[in-house]
Amino acid sequence: MNTQLDWFKILTDCKNNVEDTIKPHLKTLNEPQPDLGEGAGGDAMKPIDLAAEKAIVNTLQDHGISFSLISEESGFEKYGNTPEECYVTIDPIDGTTNLLRGLPFYASSIAISRKPFIAEVYAALVTDLYHDITYMAQKNKGAYRDGERIKPSQISNLQEAVIGMDLNSYKVAEIAPKLTDLIQQTRHIRHYGANALELCYVANGLTDAFVDIRGKLRTTDAAAGFLIVKEAGGLITDINNQSVNVKLDPRQSLNFVASGNAKIHNTILGLVKS
Ligand code: IPD
Ligand code: CA
Repeated sequence: MNTQLDWFKILTDCKNNVEDTIKPHLKTLNEPQPDLGEGAGGDAMKPIDLAAEKAIVNTLQDHGISFSLISEESGFEKYGNTPEECYVTIDPIDGTTNLLRGLPFYASSIAISRKPFIAEVYAALVTDLYHDITYMAQKNKGAYRDGERIKPSQISNLQEAVIGMDLNSYKVAEIAPKLTDLIQQTRHIRHYGANALELCYVANGLTDAFVDIRGKLRTTDAAAGFLIVKEAGGLITDINNQSVNVKLDPRQSLNFVASGNAKIHNTILGLVKS
């Protein structure tokens, strides 16, 4: 059974391979980066995105794992003889814009599940590729940052809280009014530009919540971060306080509020308009 594998070791090998593979690409970022066409998630692919994807696929194959890949770049691919045993949902580089511009906030995200649904993810890794900091979780085994167990924040007061909010959208005129009350009452709002990692910041208590209700974030960006938040002890629901269990698919988007504790979660949900 794939669930019995040492996923912390396998995912760490994946991340090490991604880091080694992208090193030469990072040195050429001052040169124009060719577009390699549209990826499965709908964005333009850059050589570094595909290089990171290949590093993850190669590492899993080296471990002899059969799997179905669900990637923001190549979409659906099958590897090995029994690919339906294990789904691997990846965003090889989350925060490509940051990376290409030298902004130090981008990540690699890998989620392992038995079925292609976000609530089925049982092992996850998100690596901050700039700072080489790794967040991992396994179902019922907790969440870790570089091997140390993490817990989310207990801050519940919006005046003290730091809340991540993604408002990147051409439809901002529709979305912003839903968030006006929350924005008005929140003193410290942030958006760093790599939502997989921003979920880990909630898991680790660096921020107190993260809100993305644009209807735009792909499951490939969120799959690993969801498990990491939940295993750390945080909460993730939709704006109606319902659990989110969407299909893992590069074209599938999702809305969510992720919080460090129930008190701030309820406060936020009470202020977000549906
Ligand atoms: C993007 C980042 C960004 C979010 C975008 C995502 P990508 O991921 O997570 O913060 O605003 O919606 O697409 O495209 O760099 O993998
Ligand atoms: Ca990406």
